Amino acid sequence: MNHQKLFKNVDEQEPTICTTIGDIPSWLTGNLYRIGPGKFDFKKQSVNHWFDGMGLLHHFHIENGAVRYKSKFINSPAYNAAEKNQKLCFREFATDPCATLFQRFFTRFNQQFTSNTMVNISKLDRDMISLTETPQPIIFDKDTLETIGPYSFNDEFQYNLHTAHPHKDNHDQSMINLGIRMGRKTYYEFFKVRNNQRQLMSSLRIQKPSYQHSFAMTENYLIIIDTPFKVTPLAIRFGTKSFINHFKWHKNTPTIFHIFNIKTGKKQCTIKSPPFFMFHQVNAFEKNVTIVFDTIAFKNATIIDALYLDNLRKGMPDIPAGKLKRFILDPKTHQMISKKTLLNESIALPNINYKKYNGKPYSWAYALNTKKTPFFNRIIKINVETWTHKFYEKEDCIPSEPIFIQHPAKNDEDDGIILSVLFNTKTNTTQLHGIDAKTMSNKFTSTIRGLRGYTLHGQFFKTVS
Ligand SMILES: [Fe+2]
Repeated sequence: MNHQKLFKNVDEQEPTICTTIGDIPSWLTGNLYRIGPGKFDFKKQSVNHWFDGMGLLHHFHIENGAVRYKSKFINSPAYNAAEKNQKLCFREFATDPCATLFQRFFTRFNQQFTSNTMVNISKLDRDMISLTETPQPIIFDKDTLETIGPYSFNDEFQYNLHTAHPHKDNHDQSMINLGIRMGRKTYYEFFKVRNNQRQLMSSLRIQKPSYQHSFAMTENYLIIIDTPFKVTPLAIRFGTKSFINHFKWHKNTPTIFHIFNIKTGKKQCTIKSPPFFMFHQVNAFEKNVTIVFDTIAFKNATIIDALYLDNLRKGMPDIPAGKLKRFILDPKTHQMISKKTLLNESIALPNINYKKYNGKPYSWAYALNTKKTPFFNRIIKINVETWTHKFYEKEDCIPSEPIFIQHPAKNDEDDGIILSVLFNTKTNTTQLHGIDAKTMSNKFTSTIRGLRGYTLHGQFFKTVS
């Protein structure tokens, strides 16, 4: 495995037909959009961190048993300025463009920080958007991938940060997200987006917000996971460092669950846990009077340091393990009832049968796993009730985030196909694998020549209208 090849600049790809081996199920028709960093090195500056790379959008179109592929950079203001000047012009996740203090002081927070939407994909109203952690989604054309422009919120809210992992409301399918509004007074706020407007659901004043990458949602609750990786609001506004370097790990400080009633927006309670850090929750649901919360937890926030390119480009990078943990919380007594490690495997980038089971009792999670290799080498399917698991692994291949698609005529939670893009670093090919989710066996492989760019997140849409 030569994972270092994945952390190099990648070119855009014109539409091309993939070579497919195996049978693509006739019901599997649609579009897989994925995004991730595709450019790290400019003539006058190289970025420091994996999450600083410029967002390259990938599109796999599946129809009539064939797969077509193309990719295009998101022409964000951050990308356009970096291309023009051959160096960064906005403050990225962990790389600073070295603006003067004078420039910083007179530039609004949201104009200093990146619009490089390289983290995730979503659909908002009728628009396909790419997302990062600043509140400036960028709209792209669903067919050509051309950048259309920034998504404009037609409201008065002045958020500094949004998570890149919004949820869909189970009832009306509108987007729900968590924003952070920083200033003399700082707030966590949940909001729902309808017709280009954010509607406030709940608000919580906080002294020092923590880094927020994802949040949990059940039938009746929204949950903020407030880890000890915190920032001083005024320091980030007037500071001289890149975004993430303003956050500090506060030793011996608990991780706090802030739990809100989803209907009234009122805060239900605060529940403390021993400290942990997380990027990605897996799922949460209600069981009797308790809340079950599953996440990939780290002992602390050193995972962020491990994802600097200097480390990732090493032969054997040192990457801390994230473990699947289950917390059982009692919102009536405000107590954490238990905390368990469900599986002693290092896993990342989890997914579930989101459409049918988000916020509900579920059995199956899918994620990436690393076993005796420097980077991810297999996909793991985990039964979160029995703690049993199965693997999908291909020699010399590095898989990316598994996405589950339900079989339209079958009802079991794992009746469907997992789509994952695998990178064969020996043959230098990019491969879309269709995997039978029940058996974890290969159904088809659609191959393109070249390593086309590792991705962080994506979504599958049967149709995009
Ligand atoms: Fe993420």
